[in-house]
Amino acid sequence: MNPKNFLIVAIDGGAASGKSSTSRALSARFNLLHVDTGSFYRALTAELLRAGVSPADQVAVEAALGRITLGTRLEGRSALMEVGGRVVPEAEIRGREVNAHVSHFAAVPAVRAFLLAYQRGQAGFARDRGFRGLVMEGRDIGSVIFPQADHRFFLHADPEERARRRAREGGQDSIAERDRLDSSRQAAPLACPPGAVAVDTTFNTLDEVVETIARPITAALSA
Ligand code: CDP
Ligand code: CDP
Repeated sequence: MNPKNFLIVAIDGGAASGKSSTSRALSARFNLLHVDTGSFYRALTAELLRAGVSPADQVAVEAALGRITLGTRLEGRSALMEVGGRVVPEAEIRGREVNAHVSHFAAVPAVRAFLLAYQRGQAGFARDRGFRGLVMEGRDIGSVIFPQADHRFFLHADPEERARRRAREGGQDSIAERDRLDSSRQAAPLACPPGAVAVDTTFNTLDEVVETIARPITAALSA
């Protein structure tokens, strides 16, 4: 595939703003690899917790990261991160322990640096498997990982609506606290980067949000 035709879509936003559901729909519509970087931070957090490391102990975090090897497995259209050859189960990465610690580990610069090249490398993984491009979701995709992405969107929704959405999913998750930590950290804070398109999803169904985002992508592809 001509590398120039490779499409990169960045979707950032706070917890339960609709990133995953929107990204999955875009992945199916445009034949893009779906990459959920939040699941990468979650899987790494599970591994570091298992190693007994505290996010406050940066030396221990760096030592533990030095022993971790990453791989990628394709499941459907999604890239799953392998840690030491194993995909951390969903129940674990969405569980209470990881919810409570992930933003603390994600604020550690060594953790972000550890995942940087791996995340960018997903473009090669997508190319090798014949995808037309990738849609990557997270907190810093349009600002740090792929600032030159073809399309960058920042989803937001009222905190009450996001809390309702997460509660409907049945998880135990303090999303307001994670947003506070994610927005206030020094390294790659959660914020709508200049030039990204902000989309308020509070009063819109998933289908409406997907249409809003798909429109400029379709227009650019057919231009
Ligand atoms: O699904 P939800 O939006 O609740 O969270 P997530 O996308 O699974 O991300 C979990 C956590 O990982 C976030 O609260 C951030 O602390 C961290 N994260 C990050 O720092 N940078 C990213 N690109 C993605 C996630
Ligand atoms: O990935 P992120 O945490 O940003 O959000 P999500 O997992 O895509 O969406 C969280 C919940 O909100 C899911 O149950 C979605 O079905 C729901 N949702 C919604 O009700 N309306 C939207 N416009 C988008 C998502």
